[in-house]
Amino acid sequence: MYSQNKILELRNLKKYYPVYGGVLRRVKNHVKALDGIDLDIYRGECVGVVGESGCGKTTASKAIVRLHTPTAGRILFHRNGRDDGESITDISRLKRGALKRKGIREKLQMVFQDPSTSLNPRMLVKHIITEPLREYTDLSSREMENRVVELLNMVGLSKTHLMRYPHEFSGGQRQRIAVARAIASHPEFLVLDEPTSALDVSVQAQILNLLLSLRDKFNLTYLFVTHHLLVVKYISTRIVVMYLGKIVEMSGTKDLFATPFHPYTFALLSGIPIPGSEQRMKRIVLSGDVPNPLNPPRGCRFHTRCPFAFKQCGDEEPGLEEIAPGHFSACHLKSRSRQKVRDKFGNGM
Ligand SMILES: Nc1ncnc2c1ncn2[C@@H]1O[C@H](COP(=O)(O)OP(=O)(O)OP(=O)(O)O)[C@@H](O)[C@H]1O
Ligand code: SF4
Ligand SMILES: [Mg+2]
Repeated sequence: MYSQNKILELRNLKKYYPVYGGVLRRVKNHVKALDGIDLDIYRGECVGVVGESGCGKTTASKAIVRLHTPTAGRILFHRNGRDDGESITDISRLKRGALKRKGIREKLQMVFQDPSTSLNPRMLVKHIITEPLREYTDLSSREMENRVVELLNMVGLSKTHLMRYPHEFSGGQRQRIAVARAIASHPEFLVLDEPTSALDVSVQAQILNLLLSLRDKFNLTYLFVTHHLLVVKYISTRIVVMYLGKIVEMSGTKDLFATPFHPYTFALLSGIPIPGSEQRMKRIVLSGDVPNPLNPPRGCRFHTRCPFAFKQCGDEEPGLEEIAPGHFSACHLKSRSRQKVRDKFGNGM
């Protein structure tokens, strides 16, 4: 179980990308990739983030670890697990230099989906892992060398791999190198953006187990982004469901799978085949594509595809509401109607 100490608080976090047009290349519109999310993340937990392609998962990830600067909102970083005012820093607007000076950059790291593009193909493994050590530590050359070998051992590789280039490794081994680099600076929080999607199924399990053991060993906190609901069920303590730049549902993993509330979550879960299980939800096929984030629908963003939409849905945006302890959903359906959804489509899994 994770502690109740917060590590991050996201408040009304937004990221809009400008869209340029015309001869003068002026800003014509904005892609509202992330449109106001609120989320508290606690030390030691693994928050899974799911949702269709383009819903803003990577945008949220990059904004949270400050690879991008958010357009609006706050990211409150709680240092050392203390919750007093002095240890909380709003990192949302800090510039690169300030993030480094305050020792925040090394605490928040990210592992990307495809290690063949995230690792520099021209660098030896030794140098790839030494980079963050040079950037964030005062270790001597000898100490750095020892630390690199120690990190390789932690991720299941060895000294013999030091003088090789990324292309000389398998996909799973490359992702191990990316993990070693990400944990080199003793981070407290790791964003893992589809870290196993580019890997074979058997290798996926090995990387997931490696991540779980590192989390326990170093009390790491994860934000784990994936399309794969069974992966997120395996690794996450809590799940956030996103749709078109917003959080539509979040709860503990068990609750979310057993008693989903939001029609979009129902649709996502209904598509999962459960090996060896008789219990399957009735498949809900959503009509149409995800609307354009340049002009998201008014009211509930899901109303153009929701099989249960009624008049209020197109007029009023539902806020995230706590419908059971620790279980939040943004939907106008009242509990009696939700029961009707369950009666029709099944009770979760
Ligand atoms: N640099 C950018 N400039 C303009 N639009 C962008 C940029 N990056 C992302 N977007 C847009 O923002 C929206 C969210 O993109 P994002 O990459 O966060 O989605 P995602 O949920 O990670 O999708 P996927 O599951 O395919 O990785 C998409 O509409 C995308 O086209
Ligand atoms: S608010 Fe309306 S449209 Fe949105 S998910 Fe609920 S029922 Fe569907
Ligand atoms: Mg993505």
